[in-house]
Amino acid sequence: MTTTIGYSISKAIELLEAGEIVAIPTETVYGLAGNGLNEDAITKIFEAKNRPSFDPLILHTDRIEKMEAHISQVPEPLLRLMDHFSPGPLTILVDKKPSIPDLVTSGLPRVAIRIPSHPIALDLLSQLDFPLAAPSANPFGYISPTTAKHVLDNLDGKIPFILDGGPCYNGLESTIVEYSEKDGVKVLRKGSITIEQIEAVTGPVLLNTVSTSNPSAPGMLHKHYAPLTKITSRPIEELIKDYAPETIGALRWTTYDNNLPKENQLLLSREGNYREAAKNLFAQLRSLDRMNLHIIAIEYVPDEDLGRAINDKLRRATH
Ligand code: TXA
Ligand code: MG
Repeated sequence: MTTTIGYSISKAIELLEAGEIVAIPTETVYGLAGNGLNEDAITKIFEAKNRPSFDPLILHTDRIEKMEAHISQVPEPLLRLMDHFSPGPLTILVDKKPSIPDLVTSGLPRVAIRIPSHPIALDLLSQLDFPLAAPSANPFGYISPTTAKHVLDNLDGKIPFILDGGPCYNGLESTIVEYSEKDGVKVLRKGSITIEQIEAVTGPVLLNTVSTSNPSAPGMLHKHYAPLTKITSRPIEELIKDYAPETIGALRWTTYDNNLPKENQLLLSREGNYREAAKNLFAQLRSLDRMNLHIIAIEYVPDEDLGRAINDKLRRATH
């Protein structure tokens, strides 16, 4: 199969309506999309990504009303969150009806729903009469793609079309939330919307505690978002005892480390801006991965605001 990159929404629609899968831009990361009500399309997504079937997919729509036939009523606290953050990088879990294939939810009773805010994604979704199942368009376990080129680097020959919407402007995946009477609102995956932003709407929330023994919960697999090059959070002063400095790369927060050549180092944000750092994170990990280094050293950022989600990704990448 030859993979083409282009700007044609109508070409994406034609393929999606024919049960094919297409990479699409969103404000967070590129998604690998297919008809979320069509088991063949969903199977193609799992195959192209090499994704284990126990890791469920998010359904994307442009209007929650379009999902009415497929989901139970959205609990009030989640509706309030949607009022504030949808369209945008918010994903909610709601009880599904049988019209949504079990493949989408890996057999779980609830389905993840998101209304992306990227204008091209919204335009595309508004012209479809089915939701799009779309995980991030990276091979399972690798770094999420934030440009059409990233998708091509990973999935060339495996999908027919990449709809180019430019670089993703958030750069971090959506924040996933659920609600239960017992626990109230719970954040299952830290993402582009911060805990502080969520709590400003709902009051205090619970944070999911990660467990590898329960991979059916979101973003859960410990090792994730990882480059092929060895990656570590060990301090650089220690690493230079084991590796020649010119073979060590570094993903730094605001400043270069004097022990390493500058050209081996990338700064997430010179000004210490979390939004900029979030936007840079995955692209910079990919750049470092292409530099033929022996090891990449990461530096955690302050654990506040979007820094918490950034650190969560860094922790998984180094696991
Ligand atoms: O920003 C995003 O959310 C991007 C863009 C493309 O929308 N999508 C994304 O999808 O990050 P993915 O598949 O890479 O991550 C979705 C996460 C997975 O960790 C999965 O386990 C969890 O959501 N998830 C999906 N459906 C679920 C469900 N029914 N119950 C629990 N977790 C679910
Ligand atoms: Mg992913």
